[in-house]
Amino acid sequence: MSQVHVSQHPLVAHKLTVLRDEQTDHRSFRELMRELALLLVYEATQDVRLNPRQVKTPMGYAQGSKLVDAIGLVPVLRAGLGMVEGALMLLPSVQVWHIGLYRDEHTLRPVQYYNRLPDAPTVEVCLILDPMLATGGSAVATVDILKKWGVPRIKYVGLIAAPEGVKRLSEAHPDVPIHIAAIDERLNEVGFIVPGLGDAGDRQFGT
Ligand code: PRP
Repeated sequence: MSQVHVSQHPLVAHKLTVLRDEQTDHRSFRELMRELALLLVYEATQDVRLNPRQVKTPMGYAQGSKLVDAIGLVPVLRAGLGMVEGALMLLPSVQVWHIGLYRDEHTLRPVQYYNRLPDAPTVEVCLILDPMLATGGSAVATVDILKKWGVPRIKYVGLIAAPEGVKRLSEAHPDVPIHIAAIDERLNEVGFIVPGLGDAGDRQFGT
C-alpha cells in the first residue's frame, strides 16, 4: 500500500466544503482550486531534499538551505490545470509538463491525447496534479507515462478521491505517495465520485 496522506488542515477542510457546494460559481471554484492546490502541494513537499547554503544578510552570514532536486509539475488536462497556479505560487521556477487524458464515458478508460515529454527526463521529482481520483485509471496511466520517461520520484496530489481510486493507484504504484484533501464514500454507476463535487473540469471552465 502506498502512503496515503489525507490532509488534516482546517483550511483545507473549509475550502473543500465551499468547493463542493453546488452554489459555488465558476470564478470562486477556480480561486478555491488554486488555494487548495497551494495547501496540498505545501504538504506534499515536506520531504523534498535540501543542500546547505550560506547567505549573506545585512548583519552577517546565515546557514540556510536550497532545494536539491529539479521538480516538475504534471497537470492532467483538463481539470488539473486549475491546480497549476497554486502550485507555482510555492514553486515558481519549476517545469510544467502537461499530460492530456480524457476518460472514455463508456469504458471509463483513460485515452491519451497530449504528451510532449522529451526523450530524456528533465526532472527528478514529479508532482501529478489532478483534482479527482475516481476509478484511478487516469492516475495509473499518468504514473506509467512518467515512469517510462524515467522520473525517479513521483507523487500524486489531488483533492477528492474515491476509495476505489486510492486502492487502484496504491496497488499499481505502491511507491507513489497520494496527497489528497478527502476520501469520499464511493463511485456511482457512471464513475462519478459521491458525494464529490461533480465534474471538476466543467465547474472550472463553465462548460
Ligand atoms: C477527470 C479527472 C481525472 C479523471 C479521473 O477528467 O480530472 O483526470 O476524470 O477519473 P479516473 O480516476 O476514473 O480516471 P475527465 O476525463 O473528466 O477529463 P477533463 O479533466 O478534461 O474534464
